[in-house]
Amino acid sequence: MTQKEFAGRTALVTGGSRGIGRAICVRLARAGAWVAVNYAANPDAAAETLELITAEGGSGGLFQADVSSFEATGAMYDAIEAERGTVDLLVTNAGIASFDDNADMNADVWRQILSVNLDGTFHSVWRAKERMLAQEYGRIVCISSINGIAPSRIRRDRLIAYGTSKSAVISFARSCAMALGPAIRVNCVAPGLIDTDMTKDMSEEMRERIIASTPAGRTGKPEDVAELTYFLLSDAADFVTGQTYVTSGGLVTLP
Ligand SMILES: NC(=O)c1ccc[n+]([C@@H]2O[C@H](COP(=O)([O-])OP(=O)(O)OC[C@H]3O[C@@H](n4cnc5c(N)ncnc54)[C@H](OP(=O)(O)O)[C@@H]3O)[C@@H](O)[C@H]2O)c1
Repeated sequence: MTQKEFAGRTALVTGGSRGIGRAICVRLARAGAWVAVNYAANPDAAAETLELITAEGGSGGLFQADVSSFEATGAMYDAIEAERGTVDLLVTNAGIASFDDNADMNADVWRQILSVNLDGTFHSVWRAKERMLAQEYGRIVCISSINGIAPSRIRRDRLIAYGTSKSAVISFARSCAMALGPAIRVNCVAPGLIDTDMTKDMSEEMRERIIASTPAGRTGKPEDVAELTYFLLSDAADFVTGQTYVTSGGLVTLP
């Protein structure tokens, strides 16, 4: 039997309890990683993720932490390290969005979105990097969004705070790739519309408009994002760092 890609590796997926994060947890477990499933407020959903990991023949643990808090994120790493040692593979996926009109956006909403999506990414990477550098191995994928590459032409009236946070994640990941190589590779994945709890309340009319502009002719599945994330973490992507890869069915294309 061939050795699994991530056998003996420890992975942390923030926001692993639902949606895209859950699919990434399962994908990394299938590749042999021990997976730390982070969640904020949904222990039952996180437990379901762990069941799916176990069903794949994998193993992992549940770790509650609000990643917008540096202290809580640090305590989560302490707990993972006590159980498993250094985190080798990190996916910063925890995120929130507001689909309110930009006109209704206020300073509180702005601060909340930036604190989870951007500060949470910073806290997770910053706490991981010293040990990754010390062991001269670390692989990081930050989940951004197509809204971090360009503002939506279809939803022009929304997502200012969200898009700003996701642009900043791309910039942060690029800078980290420069600062932390060669030991650590850092890349971004920028998904388009993916069917998860985050997007389930979108109107059918809006969904149809987005699909009509998408060459692939469909919305994305969490597994679409998980496959790309797996690839970027794997040795097959050993010469890839500081990059942003879009998985949007062609809705957004990079030069
Ligand atoms: N769905 C899309 O169309 C789409 C497109 C582009 C990018 N993305 C990005 O992909 C990522 C995952 O999105 P999704 O659609 O899977 O969202 P989702 O279904 O709403 O799940 C969000 C996940 O993030 C966790 N989370 C939220 N706030 C947190 C915090 N402060 N600390 C720790 N965990 C927190 C949630 O944990 P609990 O279960 O405990 O609440 C949950 O596991 C996000 O960064 C999102 O911006 C999504």
